[in-house]
Amino acid sequence: MKTRITELLGIEHPIIQGGMHFVGFAELAAAVSNAGGLGIVTGLTQRTPELLANEIRRCREMTSKPFGVNLTFLPSVTSPDYPGYVRAIVEGGVKVVETAGNNPQQVLPHLHAAGIKVIHKCTSVRHALKAQSIGCDAVSVDGFECGGHPGEDDVPNFILLPRAADELDIPFVASGGMADGRSLVAALALGADGINMGTRFIATKEAPVHENVKKAIVAASELDTRLVMRPLRNTERVLRNAAADRLLEKEKALGANLRFEDIREEVAGVYPKIMQEGTMDAGVWSCGMVAGLIDDIPTVKELVDRIMAEANAIIRERLAGFVTA
Ligand SMILES: Cc1cc2nc3c(=O)[nH]c(=O)nc-3n(C[C@H](O)[C@H](O)[C@H](O)COP(=O)(O)O)c2cc1C
Repeated sequence: MKTRITELLGIEHPIIQGGMHFVGFAELAAAVSNAGGLGIVTGLTQRTPELLANEIRRCREMTSKPFGVNLTFLPSVTSPDYPGYVRAIVEGGVKVVETAGNNPQQVLPHLHAAGIKVIHKCTSVRHALKAQSIGCDAVSVDGFECGGHPGEDDVPNFILLPRAADELDIPFVASGGMADGRSLVAALALGADGINMGTRFIATKEAPVHENVKKAIVAASELDTRLVMRPLRNTERVLRNAAADRLLEKEKALGANLRFEDIREEVAGVYPKIMQEGTMDAGVWSCGMVAGLIDDIPTVKELVDRIMAEANAIIRERLAGFVTA
């Protein structure tokens, strides 16, 4: 399949694996790139720029195909060493960066000077247009369904994607709720040039996370996610568990008085415990509504091949069959 995104990134299939904290290690990124998509190493999961440089080297040893690095700009008190991470990316010869969170303007000149393509992930048409205006090469449009941070506008992809298509000139991929060939064809029909998946890629053999995480996604239905941290305007879609229930109780009890300190136990430093140790109630962790469409744990290649075969069949048989004239 050839779209503006496969052309821009030099990949075979229009499928990207979004950055994921404590999931996006070299093993997963390389597996996605080897399968013909674009794998992405999650920058901030590596505690220092030196560790990121090492992770990029490891990924390069596992694939000769293009892969990317995610740089998430968090609203944090002590800012990570972004210039150091950018240096590691540039010196590591990475050709694609997925930015997310705040506006990536500060890093764009450095990345572009090194010939790196920048895909900014955002949750509104407003922010997508801003990304286009500052020179991003593409955007990833994350609908309300998505795992992680859906923003505060709550616009689902059936509205958000055609709105983005109406306004944007640069290529964009649909993110949030994408799982299979149907998702890909629907995204293309709504004007996107490909898809970005998070949750679906966690439930694969190569995802370097504890089996309990994969099993929890397979067991979950589309009704099993919750939105937390809305009172802090830092909304996150997570899988419902004891920690999410406790956090929501605190939000209800404290109302507008809620402070980050009140929920520190449920959110701070919990990812290694969940993703690596498999302690599923250690805190809240991002998960999309798309869990309801996930019921197996294939290899990444099986998943990508299946999506492409299904998409081709839908386009050539089901959709072509509706056209009578
Ligand atoms: C466990 C998990 C961790 C994530 N961590 C990050 C992150 O660190 N940075 C980021 O930009 N997006 C992060 N995301 C969002 C994904 O990259 C992607 O945009 C999202 O999962 C798409 O929605 P989906 O899960 O419905 O496919 C995370 C998602 C999940 C499920």
